[in-house]
Amino acid sequence: MDDLRDKYLGLIGAAEDEAALETLRVDAVGKKGEISLKMRELGKMSPEERQVAGPALNALKDEINSALAAKKAALADAALDARLREEWLDVTLPGRTRRQGTVHPVSQVTEEVTAIFADMGFAVAEGPQIESDELNFDALNMAPDHPARQEHDTFYMSLPEGANRPPHVLRTHTSPVQIRAMQAQGAPIRVIAPGRVYRSDYDQTHTPMFHQVEGLAIDRDISMANLKWCLEAFVAAFFEVDSAELRFRASHFPFTEPSAEVDLRCSWVDGQLKVGEGDDWMEILGSGMVHPHVLRWGGVDPDQWQGFAFGIGIDRLAMLKYGIPDLRAFFDSDLRWLRHYGFGALEVPTLHGGLSR
Ligand code: DAH
Repeated sequence: MDDLRDKYLGLIGAAEDEAALETLRVDAVGKKGEISLKMRELGKMSPEERQVAGPALNALKDEINSALAAKKAALADAALDARLREEWLDVTLPGRTRRQGTVHPVSQVTEEVTAIFADMGFAVAEGPQIESDELNFDALNMAPDHPARQEHDTFYMSLPEGANRPPHVLRTHTSPVQIRAMQAQGAPIRVIAPGRVYRSDYDQTHTPMFHQVEGLAIDRDISMANLKWCLEAFVAAFFEVDSAELRFRASHFPFTEPSAEVDLRCSWVDGQLKVGEGDDWMEILGSGMVHPHVLRWGGVDPDQWQGFAFGIGIDRLAMLKYGIPDLRAFFDSDLRWLRHYGFGALEVPTLHGGLSR
């Protein structure tokens, strides 16, 4: 019995896994195990021998069983320890994007533009995509017979029967949000208004729905110089260059006076846009000093307040910055295109963290 105890306790102590333990259990205390066989021999013993051997064998069986249980628990503990050592997770690591879904370049650029102007103190304003004819045109100094109306290939909503007003329109620009923001908030005011706009147009650089961001800054003494600095700072930040050079070209918009179209100094090297250098100029936005008529529509007294406004095409900014050749593909929902040009959902653009990293 002592030999049996030494043998099995030794083997159990040395067992390396649960399978080995199970084999030992069968060999020792299983139906045909060595100890079970010994117990069968009890029948052949004299009563005196049996009285001694019986309890001793039972005690040995119990001892082996508890050694097996203890070893099994120890093996499980060791396995858990090893797993914990192997499978640790550093929760301080930055999130890793799985790129299942991606952020559309238009959303990305909208976020970038918003981050830049927020840093300059501009809040975000919003307006409806179905806009009244009055706010989309009249309030912006485009009376019903104004020729500039024809330049916008406007989508008109159907007019309810008996309605005594012009039909609403799908807004042709984000400029009506200027009026809404001034009416809601008065002056001084500093807002941008990114959003969808609509015009009936379709080719490589035009889609019937596209995106603009409007800017509006009104205060006592805001001048064209402030406009120029603001736009230069914006363009440098957006294209992530040290400085950008802009050219203000006299132009005409009904809602600004004076008005300027703004070109960006750039060059094209192997089809890649380089900003801030080169001999090319590229038109990127319209701007000017807000027309008194527009201020009045917004409930702001033009004898007290003045300021600038601008309008930029968001899709065009995205095409330029990220080298995307055809605007129409933006809205095709082609997964291959989205995966190629999309941005990681966790890479939120910030000025300090990087806009497009
Ligand atoms: N609303 C103009 C357009 O869609 C863009 C624009 C030009 C907006 C000059 C402005 C501005 O605020 O001052 O073509």
